[in-house]
Amino acid sequence: MPQQHPLRLGVNIDHVATLRNARGGGLPDPVRAALVAQEAGADGITAHLREDRRHIRDADVDALMEALEIPLNFEMAATDEMQAIALRHTPHAVCLVPEKREERTTEGGLNVAQDENKMAHFIAPLRGAGCRVSIFIAADERQIVAAHRIGADVIELHTGAYCDAFAVGDLEARDRELAALREMAAFAHDLGLEVHAGHGLTYEDVTPIAALPQVQEVNIGHFIIGEAVFRGLGPAIQKMREILDKARP
Ligand code: PXP
Repeated sequence: MPQQHPLRLGVNIDHVATLRNARGGGLPDPVRAALVAQEAGADGITAHLREDRRHIRDADVDALMEALEIPLNFEMAATDEMQAIALRHTPHAVCLVPEKREERTTEGGLNVAQDENKMAHFIAPLRGAGCRVSIFIAADERQIVAAHRIGADVIELHTGAYCDAFAVGDLEARDRELAALREMAAFAHDLGLEVHAGHGLTYEDVTPIAALPQVQEVNIGHFIIGEAVFRGLGPAIQKMREILDKARP
């Protein structure tokens, strides 16, 4: 297995599948993209099997599990169907995300505090099967405490609001969101949770997130796949790696 970095980069390949699905056939192949990402220095691959299979499909998960040397972070909703698929494959990590059919992308974090008991029962077999369980949540103390209480190994902090504020130049909102992420990364780490971050990150806005000392992994998809149109996938990933290395020497 290739060398893992102190700040790991997980590359989300969902949108290679989105492009493939736009034409029906088999191209471009998300598994080929995953292998290019692995070669370019990605520490892991993230893929989200949605209920509606709008990007990654079941056969992609089979092929990724077969082909990858680096860990697969399998994103899914907390449903019985997805739990059965995860238990069949036992990927390195399972990241639980909220899912709404009408949304274009994962809009917010999971409300794990609302359903603590149910979530605790849901993740127990996944952990029992050897998967690291990660919960995608907002930078919210109540959610972090709940994630810890149900026995999650990892939380992934949703960086979408920070990235949106950064993109429109709303400095006040950007700083407020970043302060919340900073504070909650430290809070989660102190509880013993491994801290990841992701959603909406780009070359421009990733540095302050990568500099948070508790963050061990960032998961980035849409921007990298878009940037690959101009630079090629390998170079787009290598440039992100350089930025991460500069932020976290
Ligand atoms: N992390 C999680 C949990 C996600 O669901 C996603 C994709 O929605 C990402 C990271 C990557 O987000 P993006 O594609 O905006 O980089």
